[in-house]
Amino acid sequence: MQRFEKKVALITGAASGIGRATAERLAREGASLFLCDVQQEGLQATVKQCRELGAEAEGHICDVGQAADIQATIDACTERFGGLDVLVNVAGILTLERTEKTTLETWERILRINLTGTFLLCQAALPSLLERKGNIVNISSTSAISGLPYGAAYGASKGGVLALTRALAVEYAKRGLRANAICPGSVKTPMTGRSGLPDDPDVSLLQRVLPLDKPRGPETVASVIAMVASADGAHVNGESIRVDGGTLA
Ligand SMILES: NC(=O)c1ccc[n+]([C@@H]2O[C@H](COP(=O)([O-])OP(=O)(O)OC[C@H]3O[C@@H](n4cnc5c(N)ncnc54)[C@H](O)[C@@H]3O)[C@@H](O)[C@H]2O)c1
Repeated sequence: MQRFEKKVALITGAASGIGRATAERLAREGASLFLCDVQQEGLQATVKQCRELGAEAEGHICDVGQAADIQATIDACTERFGGLDVLVNVAGILTLERTEKTTLETWERILRINLTGTFLLCQAALPSLLERKGNIVNISSTSAISGLPYGAAYGASKGGVLALTRALAVEYAKRGLRANAICPGSVKTPMTGRSGLPDDPDVSLLQRVLPLDKPRGPETVASVIAMVASADGAHVNGESIRVDGGTLA
């Protein structure tokens, strides 16, 4: 399938996990890729892999938590590829800790990267996306739908991503732009490998968010992102799609 032939996609969080898998999936489907992350080494590995798959791919260091980086990133993408068709906001961080121990600094950092970063990228990309009647895919989380114990800040940031996505979908639908959210859960990535729980967690609280079936890899999210972002998703707008093996069904 070459659903992204002549299409330009910008993906944040492309150095690892779901972002990398999405880059590889879109590369296989013919996209030109502008790949962003804060991790230089991982980013270069993704760029190399996408080029080996036959795609034009450019790596760009962008900290989505720094407002000053955002417009420069969109400008660099449109300068390199002449425009933008698909924006996939994947970059994110997870901290799990008891709510009474969550500092204002942690709360603000998570909100800034996961929610404000997503908002700023959407905002800066809008002129280019509207010009090409493109679309946005934002990565939310099952924690936006069902309470994640020890994840108040993370869940709040991802709930914000859902609300932001729906607002964009309604506000810009008549101008030909779509915006959708994906809610992964139980996806095996470096993030899930390192998300430490607080000391002495109440495991009974965690039962409800354990995978119903089994964890799967980030390619299972990338394939859904690709469908939604392609012409196959032409009538999908303002939707949030759980990709969690049925855990929250
Ligand atoms: N893995 C899961 O089960 C799961 C579940 C729900 C939601 N998600 C979401 O999916 C997205 C990808 O997560 P993943 O599991 O692939 O984790 P990951 O840690 O493998 O990838 C996250 C990427 O984001 C990048 N990043 C972090 N902060 C950044 C910043 N300030 N600017 C730019 N890039 C930054 C990291 O360097 C990394 O490459 C995240 O938004 C995460 O919240 C993952």
